[in-house]
Amino acid sequence: MDNFSQLPDPNRMGAKRQMEREFGVPIPGVILPQNQWVQTALKDLPCTGPIDFPALFPTQGQLVVDIGCGNGRYLLGSGYTRMGWNHIGFDVLPMVIRYATRRANQRGLSNIRFAVADGLKVVRQLLGRETVDEVHIYHPQPYHDPRDADRRMVTPSFLASVHDCLKPGGLIFLQTDHPGYWKAIRETVSHFFDFHERIGRWTDSPRGRTRREILSIKRGLPIFRGQGSRLDHLDSLAKEKLVRNLPLPMFGIHAESQRLDREELVLDKY
Ligand SMILES: C[S@@+](CC[C@H](N)C(=O)[O-])C[C@H]1O[C@@H](n2cnc3c(N)ncnc32)[C@H](O)[C@@H]1O
Repeated sequence: MDNFSQLPDPNRMGAKRQMEREFGVPIPGVILPQNQWVQTALKDLPCTGPIDFPALFPTQGQLVVDIGCGNGRYLLGSGYTRMGWNHIGFDVLPMVIRYATRRANQRGLSNIRFAVADGLKVVRQLLGRETVDEVHIYHPQPYHDPRDADRRMVTPSFLASVHDCLKPGGLIFLQTDHPGYWKAIRETVSHFFDFHERIGRWTDSPRGRTRREILSIKRGLPIFRGQGSRLDHLDSLAKEKLVRNLPLPMFGIHAESQRLDREELVLDKY
């Protein structure tokens, strides 16, 4: 997943189609006539402090965040089905964010924004405290080589910051095709959230909520899914103690998950 710069730029691609598919699965929504397109790219992020969400969206509503959103497929679907809710997706790779914004723009989804940002900065600075209703993280990059273990995003410190950003009762959604990452996540997430593993696919998107989920299903890989609500009784001191004592995500290479990463680069446009 580290070579997205080799992919074609979506803004330079040819004739636009009304309905798009990815690995045979329709991308939610249809391309509208150009006079109904909107601007969903958030390019100027604050250097310090949180994003001014009331100023960012035309209407106020609950806020859904996708961290490591890739091409934004989950948020496109949620943006359609939950029109009264606001959505924002973040990813470190500008290329995938360009695909995400182009699709949201062309579908007129004014309740969505996308920005290039690192997930840790997102939860520590950009979201602010108790502003978010749902945080979604689908297939966080495992950084397969144990020498890159310090780049893995879902650590106790990250989860404590997600807890800070969520409103009381707010929800976290986590999913991966990497058994080792899932085991590590399960060891930590229940300290911050009333977390339950989900058996079976999401009923709203049985063919997959995200690009990576669709691919994993097609390759017959096991997918680990779960969701949890914020443990509201945890205060800052309790969270600091958890961060000091809980383990970092350490796991070895999972060959099938690594193979899928390589495949994803050459299979299709984003
Ligand atoms: C395996 S892909 C999954 C993408 C998407 N969520 C899906 O399920 O199709 C992992 C994504 O996480 C992004 N990523 C990796 N490290 C990140 C970080 N520290 N902050 C934000 N995004 C990150 C990658 O650029 C990539 O788009």
